[in-house]
Amino acid sequence: MTAQTTVTLNNGLEIPALGFGVFQTPPEETISSVTTALEDGYRLIDTAASYGNEREVGEGFRQSGLDRSEIVVESKLWISDYQADKAEVGFEASLRRLGLDYVDLYLLHQPTPVDFDDTIAAYQMLEQKLAEGKVRAIGVSNFSPDHLTRLIEKTSIVPAINQVEVHPYFTNATVQHADATLGILTQAWSPIGGIHRYRPSDVPGSGNVLEHQVITELAAKYGKTPAQIVLRWHLDEGRSALPKSTKAARIAENFAVFDFSLAPAELAAIDALDTGLRGGPDPELLNTRSFPKAVDNS
Ligand SMILES: NC(=O)c1ccc[n+]([C@@H]2O[C@H](COP(=O)([O-])OP(=O)(O)OC[C@H]3O[C@@H](n4cnc5c(N)ncnc54)[C@H](OP(=O)(O)O)[C@@H]3O)[C@@H](O)[C@H]2O)c1
Repeated sequence: MTAQTTVTLNNGLEIPALGFGVFQTPPEETISSVTTALEDGYRLIDTAASYGNEREVGEGFRQSGLDRSEIVVESKLWISDYQADKAEVGFEASLRRLGLDYVDLYLLHQPTPVDFDDTIAAYQMLEQKLAEGKVRAIGVSNFSPDHLTRLIEKTSIVPAINQVEVHPYFTNATVQHADATLGILTQAWSPIGGIHRYRPSDVPGSGNVLEHQVITELAAKYGKTPAQIVLRWHLDEGRSALPKSTKAARIAENFAVFDFSLAPAELAAIDALDTGLRGGPDPELLNTRSFPKAVDNS
C-alpha cells in the first residue's frame, strides 16, 4: 500500500493529513465506524465533547488492538466550558470519556467573539495542558483571521491547527491565507461538502459538489470517485481533511487516495468552484446565548 500523506505541525508533531470524522455519527454506530476506519489504515480520529461519542471513539480504539502511540486522537472543548473555572473540568471530562490519559490534538471548538475573554481563558487552559504533557498539540476551530489575531495577542502559543469549513464550494481562502501566514495548519471539516447535503440550504451555488462536472470529469480521468478527487485536492494543497462516513465501503473509499495526485491546473479548476458562501454557521455569531447547548461533564 502507498504510504499515507503526513503533515508536520508548527511544534514539530507529525500527524496523518487524512483523518476520520465522527460528527453526527450516533454513539451506537461510532465503535464500528472507528474500528473499520482503523482497520483500513486511518490513524487520526476527530471527535468533540459536543458530538456525544467520545466514549465510543475511545472504545473503538481499544477494540482495534493498536498501540496508543500509533493513533492520533483529536477532540474539542465546547463553548459551554470556556469560562476559567470550567475549562479544565471540560478537558478532564473529555479524557475520562475517551478513556485516555492524554489526547494528541485538542482544540477550542468555536471562537466566542462577543465573550472573547472566555475564549482566551479556555485557550490558556489548553496551553497549561500542553505544558503538563496531557495534550501533544493545541489548536482552534472556526477561527477567522481576526479571531486568530485577537487570540495570539493575548496568549503564548500560536495554535497548531485551525479546523474550518473547506470544500470546493467554500474554499475559505482568506482563512487559509491567514493560517499559512501564521504557520497554522488548515484542517478541513465537511471536506467533501457534506454540510450542503445533510443540511441543504437555499444558498445559491450550494448542492452536491460531488456531482459537479469538473469533479466528475476528473474522477473519470483518474478512475477515481468524486469523493476521492475532492480529498486528493485537499492533500495536494497541503491541508488536513476529515471525511466522515458510517458506511464501510465509503470509509474505505475515502482512504484510497494515496496513489495519485492532481495537476496544478486541475487544483485551480477545483478552487474556481468556490461560491464564497459557507454551509455551516457564521462563527462570528456564536456564543452561549445564541447556541445554548451545554456538554454534560458529570
Ligand atoms: N469543527 C467543526 O465545527 C466541525 C463541523 C463539522 C464537521 N467537523 C468534522 O469534520 C468531519 C466531516 O464533516 P462532515 O461530516 O460535515 O462532512 P463530510 O465528511 O464532507 O461529508 C459527510 C457526508 O457525506 C457522506 N459521505 C461520506 N463519504 C462519502 C462518499 N465517498 N461519497 C458520497 N457521500 C459520502 C456521509 O454519509 P454517510 O455517513 O451515510 O456515508 C455524510 O452524509 C466531521 O465528522 C467532524 O469530525 C467539524
